[in-house]
Amino acid sequence: MKELTIDYLRNLTELDFRNHVGLVLTVGEKGSETLIAVGRFVRLAPDADEAEVAFTVADKYQQRGAASLLMQTLIRFARACGIRKFVAILLQDNRAMFKVLEDSRLPLRREFEDGNLRVVLDLGEQARVALERGRAQSLSVKAAALPIASAWPRTGYAH
Ligand SMILES: CC(C)(COP(=O)(O)OP(=O)(O)OC[C@H]1O[C@@H](n2cnc3c(N)ncnc32)[C@H](O)[C@@H]1OP(=O)(O)O)[C@@H](O)C(=O)NCCC(=O)NCCS
Repeated sequence: MKELTIDYLRNLTELDFRNHVGLVLTVGEKGSETLIAVGRFVRLAPDADEAEVAFTVADKYQQRGAASLLMQTLIRFARACGIRKFVAILLQDNRAMFKVLEDSRLPLRREFEDGNLRVVLDLGEQARVALERGRAQSLSVKAAALPIASAWPRTGYAH
């Protein structure tokens, strides 16, 4: 994309925390924080129980658990907002993103669509059980590789 249009900027920044939820991870001190990762979901239609989920992690901080950490928090938000399915559209060779989705340990279905991979994750009852069974614990160990003081409280909200 060569130009950031007003509509696209609005789309990225005007979150309502029900239909569009975004979370960021930052490192550094207050006042000089650097944003290292963004994860968001957008409900696919009004009243739909499906949302599209996506992540971006700065190159330097990839493969250290950032997206996986955001994923677990987004799952909690999504369930609280009545979302029961996450849909992710990715390039077929995007191993990293597929691993993030697979690592959530949620029931997963994949379909090929227009040359891309469409992955559907079930956030139903099994998501609640998986979250309660200490997935957060293994993630917090992995997140220790990130220079954030404490993974959960340092998860910021992108308004
Ligand atoms: C995809 C992306 C968000 C993953 O973020 P991340 O913070 O690096 O992911 P994590 O560190 O949580 O990694 C989760 C798993 O994927 C694996 N992984 C990460 N990067 C990988 C890579 N380049 N190749 C293979 N596996 C990879 C990790 O080893 C980890 O596996 P493990 O649990 O067995 O250790 C990041 O690579 C990115 O921003 N890519 C560009 C944008 C993009 O493709 N977004 C997805 C569109 S929806």
